[in-house]
Amino acid sequence: MSQRIIATTRKLRTLRIFACLLLGGLVLLAVGAPAGAYPRTDEDLIETSCGDNQTTSILIAYDTIHGSTAEVAEFIGEDLCARGFKVDVRLAANVTDISPYSAVIVGSAIYQFAWLEGATTFLRQNEQALSTLPVAFFIVGASMAEDTPETREAVKQQFVDPVLQEFAAITPVSIGLFGGAVDFMANEYNFMERIVLRILGLFLGYTNSADWRNWNTIGDWIGEAAALLNGE
Ligand SMILES: Cc1cc2nc3c(=O)[nH]c(=O)nc-3n(C[C@H](O)[C@H](O)[C@H](O)COP(=O)(O)O)c2cc1C
Repeated sequence: MSQRIIATTRKLRTLRIFACLLLGGLVLLAVGAPAGAYPRTDEDLIETSCGDNQTTSILIAYDTIHGSTAEVAEFIGEDLCARGFKVDVRLAANVTDISPYSAVIVGSAIYQFAWLEGATTFLRQNEQALSTLPVAFFIVGASMAEDTPETREAVKQQFVDPVLQEFAAITPVSIGLFGGAVDFMANEYNFMERIVLRILGLFLGYTNSADWRNWNTIGDWIGEAAALLNGE
């Protein structure tokens, strides 16, 4: 009985998160919104390289507005270097040539129920080449605030399946679903973002900040993805 109550409570919470994000998205669409130039500040853009003396080279191409996805990309890069790969972490829009890489990881923050344009443009421009390489995806969003089988399924259906359909030539070996972050102190939110995130805070129980990125979960995913990208 109590298991049923817990499962129902989880489902309701998942529904609340999605309803809230939908509401936020509709508010933004109604006023013709988003986000202005991004990454929003210099700190929100992270580009690193490591593992120069290694032979297998992996590109992590990501898109972000407020930097939490950039930090996830950086973390993945450091971990992969420690596992013996050469890694470049780049903003997707800054990548001009993927031919030097043996594998590619593409990551995006989720805004208004979709991947950011820099990530989808990267997929579009490189679809042919990516169809012949080992590829992994990861996404970062508030709807993974609570990591349950129900949220994973809903997030996959809502945010991953449309991308898999649009870029059908690309078959990722692994897809990481990660919680995102909100920080009213550190991030420069515009007016509409503030409204959406304040509403979200009412549902998710934060006032000024929340960080749902679980670095252990991300670390576990990197281990799995690294083996698959390496053809193991
Ligand atoms: C205006 C706005 C819309 C958002 N829409 C979604 C959404 O549809 N789904 C979701 O999971 N998270 C959504 N979020 C939360 C962001 O994905 C989350 O804060 C993420 O960590 C931001 O990544 P970034 O810091 O790399 O930009 C939204 C956030 C804002 C400000």
